[in-house]
Amino acid sequence: MRENRMPRRPRRNRKSQVIRDMVEETQVTTADLIFPIFLVEGQNKKTPVASMPGIFRLSGDLVLNEIEACMNLGVRAFDIFPAVEEQYKDKTASKSYDPDFFYLKTLKEVKKRFPEACIMTDIAMDPYSADGHDGVVSEGRILNDETLTILGRMALAQAETGVDILGPSDMMDGRVGYIRDLLDENGFTDVSIMSYTAKYASAFYNPFRDALDSAPKFGDKKTYQMNPANRKEALIEAELDTVEGADFLMVKPALAYLDIIRLLKDETSLPIAAYNVSGEYAMIKAAHEKGWLDGDRVMKETLLSIRRAGADVILTYFAKAFAQLQKQSEI
Ligand code: PBG
Repeated sequence: MRENRMPRRPRRNRKSQVIRDMVEETQVTTADLIFPIFLVEGQNKKTPVASMPGIFRLSGDLVLNEIEACMNLGVRAFDIFPAVEEQYKDKTASKSYDPDFFYLKTLKEVKKRFPEACIMTDIAMDPYSADGHDGVVSEGRILNDETLTILGRMALAQAETGVDILGPSDMMDGRVGYIRDLLDENGFTDVSIMSYTAKYASAFYNPFRDALDSAPKFGDKKTYQMNPANRKEALIEAELDTVEGADFLMVKPALAYLDIIRLLKDETSLPIAAYNVSGEYAMIKAAHEKGWLDGDRVMKETLLSIRRAGADVILTYFAKAFAQLQKQSEI
């Protein structure tokens, strides 16, 4: 090679910010994000979640304020989870479909106050279950079809509040079809389902279970959540959720499962969501607090990697912080 002669020099496309921006392949925007929020009963309550710095359990009045603040930053989609006191929990999660229970009442208020926001809910028994499992427990086993009846009631009660997307996170077989059918039968044809399609039995959910006090009282969730070793099984779940009527397919967790996000993106046609879960958030926050990582930069890189893997939508506890950073960079 003669001096200086080299036809391909990829560094030319990295030589300035303008060119780097021009050739950028993937972007994360605030519009791609859904912000999970933890709701508690009462008034003017705000308690930190110890394992999730910056995240709080909020009472309904403060949730309304939080949503307003987020909307002003451009975050327009929220997934609201209830933290339920032990005294309300029972074997059949009966509070989950009681229209007078604070979760359903708050959802109604939220939709009334912010009709333009997209509100998502969670369908699973664990926050309301005395056993801390996502399904009905009998003699140490999680019963599938008996659970569907309860999930169906929960879905209808949530749909009644006017929410936009229901998120079955329970991993019972046939629940998407069961819920879709019930919604349609009752006139809720416009209510969407974002199915937790490939939800793995993961150790990354612990901070979330702290937030909701919803850890299983015995055993683990391995008979319903997926084995982290499996890839093809995600395709089976995706196929079923698609024919059963899901509008979005979700992969959860996100980071240790980027290959699954890509797999579903390539092999299916529905929009793919990824849940950047509590443990993924906690790791970055903890390392930032120790001064070992730059939390903001790692957050952006993390969200970008999830988008690059193929996620159209990201559920993330970083949604508000990301939007704040975006806003600052626009100024
Ligand atoms: C409940 C549910 C869980 C999460 C979302 N919905 C926990 C679990 O399945 O044990 C986890 C979210 C997170 O870790 O951020 N079915």
